[in-house]
Formats: sequence, C-alpha cells, structure tokens
Amino acid sequence: MRRAKITVIGAGNVGATCAHWCAAAELGDIVLLDIPQTEDMPAGKALDLMQSSPIMGFDSKIVGTTSYDDAADSDVIVVTAGIPRKPGMSRDDLLSTNARIITSVGEEIKKSSPNAVVIVVSNPLDAMVQQMWKVTGFDRAKVCGQAGVLDTARYRTFLAMELGVSVEDISALLMGGHGDTMVPIPSCTSVGGIPVTQLIDPARLEEIVERTRKGGAEIVSLLKTGSAYYAPAAACAQMVEAVVKDKKRCIPVAALCESEYGVGGYYVGVPVIMGSGGVEKVIELKLTDAETADFQKSVDAVKSLVASMDELLAG
Ligand code: NAI
Ligand code: 2OP
Repeated sequence: MRRAKITVIGAGNVGATCAHWCAAAELGDIVLLDIPQTEDMPAGKALDLMQSSPIMGFDSKIVGTTSYDDAADSDVIVVTAGIPRKPGMSRDDLLSTNARIITSVGEEIKKSSPNAVVIVVSNPLDAMVQQMWKVTGFDRAKVCGQAGVLDTARYRTFLAMELGVSVEDISALLMGGHGDTMVPIPSCTSVGGIPVTQLIDPARLEEIVERTRKGGAEIVSLLKTGSAYYAPAAACAQMVEAVVKDKKRCIPVAALCESEYGVGGYYVGVPVIMGSGGVEKVIELKLTDAETADFQKSVDAVKSLVASMDELLAG
C-alpha cells in the first residue's frame, strides 16, 4: 500500500505551514508547489522540512516544485495559491486577482489529478471554491473549502479563554460564509456536554461571536504584513486527515449546497461528513427562525460575491 499523495499549491505562509502539519502527522507524501517566478523557494522549504523529520520522527517524502508533473495523480490537493489580505484590505478586495489564479490552478488540477479531493483555502473563500468547482468540473463531493474548521477553532479558543476550561471540552458549530455574516448555532455549542447558554449570558456570548467574526482581521492588524497561517494551516491538515484516513469527521466545511437548506447551487459553510470521498454528506440541521434568517443573509452575501466575481472574470 502506498502513502497518500498530498499536494499543497502555494508554498507561502499557509501552504508551507500546512505541509508542516501534514508531515508531522505522517498523513502522506507531500508536494509543495508554487509558480515558476518563485524559482527554488518551494524546493528550499521542502528540503528544510524534510531535514526536520529525523528530529520530529516522521517519515514523509516532501518535494518542492514549480511543475504540475510532480503533482500528478494526487489524492488530496490543498489550494492556498493567491495573495493574502493586507491591513485595510477586505477579503472581497482580493476577488479579482485570486479568481484568475484559481482559474489557472483549477485547469492544471483537472489535467493532472482528475481523482483528487480539492480543498480550497484562497480568499474570498466562498467564491474561490465555487470557481474551482466550475473550472475542474469535478463532482461536488470532491471540491470543498476550508473556513468553518478555522472559524470554529477561533470560537472554541475564545470560549475556552472565557470559561478557563480546556479547548478540548468545547464543541461548537458556526455556519454560513467565511466572513462577517457567519452564523453561530448556540444549540450546537457545548462545554463538556453543558449547553453554552447555561454558562455564558447572551450579551457576552454575542461579544465572543463578534470577535470570532472579526478573527481574521484581528490577526491581520497584529501581524501587519500578512494574514493568519498557523490555525488556517492546522484546519487544512485536519481536513486532509479526514480524507486520507477516511475519518468520517463531522466538521463545518464550505460545501456545494443544492436542495440542502434551499441554497440552490452555492458553496456555503455547513456541517458535513468528510471522508475518503471528500464531502460525503451535507448534514441538514433544524435551525431556529432567527438562525434561518441569519443563514439566509450569509447565503445572500455569498451569492453577491460570486456574481461580482463572474462579472470581473467576464470583463
Ligand atoms: P502567501 O502570500 O504567504 O502565499 C501565497 C502563495 O501563493 C505565494 O507563495 C504565491 O507565490 C503563491 N501563488 C500565487 N499564484 C499562484 C499560482 N498561480 N500557482 C501557485 N501558487 C501561486 O499567502 P498566505 O498567507 O499563504 O495565504 C494564502 C491564501 O489563503 C490567501 O488568499 C489568504 O487570504 C487565504 N487564507 C484563507 C483562509 C481561510 O480560512 N480560508 C485563512 C488564511 C488565509
Ligand atoms: C482568516 O480568517 C485571512 O481568511 C483569513 O484569517
């Protein structure tokens, strides 16, 4: 039996750190790919990472490259190619540049790895994953986006800080787009099995949700020269693990919803079961009227983002 082949496209902060987490967890052999203009940079990062393996104790072949030949027949592909958000820049400002990058990357993936599960990370996430699905023409189960695992991890971190408990005991769910309209689901948020609403009053919980919604911007304003990467990369590695180990994880993922939640053919953050087939099932929850209204607002924001992207690409 061979190891899984994991390709990470974009060897920048999120991509290289994702390769690091995947290698350290022995999820498979890794190809780190970037554009030819980066010359030997991906090879340098890959070799450096491989030289950490005797110390950290993992067996994984890590190759850095600028050629899709090295990425051929990957089992999982994580797409981080693009430009990150700079201070003062919204996620939507990235739309035009990254949509063109995703289009070219998607065309290469379609040719070289027709059976891969593709996990898109590049922002604005909900539009980029829609574009990737359109360009590759892959089954909807095989193309998904990473945002919900990160947003939920931020929420769980803040809840653990608030209550002084282990992050391991916090289970939570956020739905909707990766942006200011993400929707918390308090009925699916618990601390050691205790509903969060019994431990934190509604006003304080809303403040924590608001910090989560602005979680990406908070890191940008601290870093000043780029956006978050440790937690985003860890979130990608968790999704890769779900696929290569067929874990059947129940996690929030940007998945193409057709009849589900009445979305009608758009990618949006929903709870799914993720395994070797990619997004194997979208779980449909019963939402309250308020949650349904907030989710609809989030879906509307995603639809308008996709419409702007389509206009820019057509122009
Ligand atoms: P970065 O600038 O450190 O790395 C991006 C890399 O992509 C660069 O090395 C660049 O050369 C490469 N690249 C550009 N065009 C390419 C192409 N056509 N093919 C292959 N590689 C290409 O940026 P960083 O911090 O790694 O962020 C990457 C993307 O991920 C950004 O769009 C960022 O906004 C997004 N992001 C999304 C998150 C999420 O939760 N969905 C979380 C964090 C970042
Ligand atoms: C984040 O949430 C930039 O989307 C990225 O950190």
